[in-house]
Amino acid sequence: MLVVGNWKMYKTPSETVEFCSALAERLDGIEDVDIAICPPYTSLADAVRTLAGTEIAVAAQNVHWAEEGAYTGEVSAAMLRELGVYGAIVGHSERRQYFGESDETVARRAVAARAAGLEVIACVGESQEERESGQTELVLKLQVEAVKDALPDGDVVLAYEPVWAIGTGKTATSELAQEAHAFIKSLYDVPVLYGGSVKPENAAELMGMPGIDGALVGGASLEVESFAAIVEAAYGL
Ligand code: 13P
Repeated sequence: MLVVGNWKMYKTPSETVEFCSALAERLDGIEDVDIAICPPYTSLADAVRTLAGTEIAVAAQNVHWAEEGAYTGEVSAAMLRELGVYGAIVGHSERRQYFGESDETVARRAVAARAAGLEVIACVGESQEERESGQTELVLKLQVEAVKDALPDGDVVLAYEPVWAIGTGKTATSELAQEAHAFIKSLYDVPVLYGGSVKPENAAELMGMPGIDGALVGGASLEVESFAAIVEAAYGL
């Protein structure tokens, strides 16, 4: 099981240090669950430093495809590697929705990240409108195949995040999530995390489904206690 906290645009560097110290203490001695947090770029160095010597890894929320260049506002995989960052999310629906991310740019980011030795968590998921119009499988197919074509050797983790379940409190039922995960795995048999309103109360049931290999947690990863409870829910699954 892999439990990842995506902080989105929350926590300053000093808040990060405080959170990471408390989390490391709270999860001391943890085994059997892989854990990572994804703070904003400005907090990555502090997170890596504060979590050094623990089992908790630090990943970025995005990464650019070029090694370097005139790309104002972007950050390369080599820059992240030098900080001690172990991986990066690519293709989060908020990037697709607000920043023009496409299947093509997601694929380019994923390839560059792997080439530089970063682990990749590539996000896929349908919107409410797409689900209601019966397009879920088509959307997932296009998104998953873009990642598969870019990284065909299976060296990637996917995250199924139905857009309608993100930050809305509307979690997918475990059956609905399982159905989507099974479909995704039929296209590309790699680990698939579930994301979308994962909370301590629903984490065990979701992660207990056979096609769900962990969780990508947004809001509930911002408090030590709720994130730790989700990690604990993954024990023994
Ligand atoms: P929430 O857990 O806040 O719904 O966010 C999910 C998400 O987008 C994680 O990447």
